[in-house]
Amino acid sequence: MDASKVIAGHPVVPVIVINEEAKALRLAELLVSTGLDCIEITLRTERALSCIKAMVKEFPSATIGAGSVVTPDQLRAAEDVGSQFAVSPGASAELLKAAATSPLVPGAATATEVMQLKSAGYKTVKFFPAELLGGIKTIRALCDPIKEVQFFPTGGIRESNLQDYLDFDRIACVGGSWLASSADIENDHWDDIRRRCKSLQDRIAAN
Ligand code: 3PG
Repeated sequence: MDASKVIAGHPVVPVIVINEEAKALRLAELLVSTGLDCIEITLRTERALSCIKAMVKEFPSATIGAGSVVTPDQLRAAEDVGSQFAVSPGASAELLKAAATSPLVPGAATATEVMQLKSAGYKTVKFFPAELLGGIKTIRALCDPIKEVQFFPTGGIRESNLQDYLDFDRIACVGGSWLASSADIENDHWDDIRRRCKSLQDRIAAN
């Protein structure tokens, strides 16, 4: 099921790789306090689900989703811990079937894939790995013939190229790990993360 309504109003979604509940809560507090309260936790670590569970419990007003979801089992496990949306790099038939009643942003990298997901009722698709696929230029080219679908690009987006994406009205939101990298989280660089989040919010406000 389409997740557009769940992620609406969040132009930037921090994509987080984290493996420790205490750090997940500290990071969630920081992100929520700077207004970045739609957060994707990738299912790439052993304790990612447990981090989602802790964040959902402590920050009920935030919108916490699961990323890197590639199997129906992962989708169900994420929902079981309270994840409110899921993001996938692709769109297998099994995953789309399992997501019939679950908010999902499936991935599409070609015109055919975007068209197939549009036909299946998806209004927003992930575009990954965005920069390697040609970035905003490719998205703009796809948007010429394919109307209405919105894009959620991730992969290689940083402060330096973020504006190119934000400037296009077919971008539902931009995702990325540059705000809070796993190295920053691991090394407790909370001040750096906070500075980046605040400067991002200033930029969004000025947009
Ligand atoms: C994702 O899972 O969406 C990407 O790994 C995020 O890409 P980035 O780390 O280049 O921001």
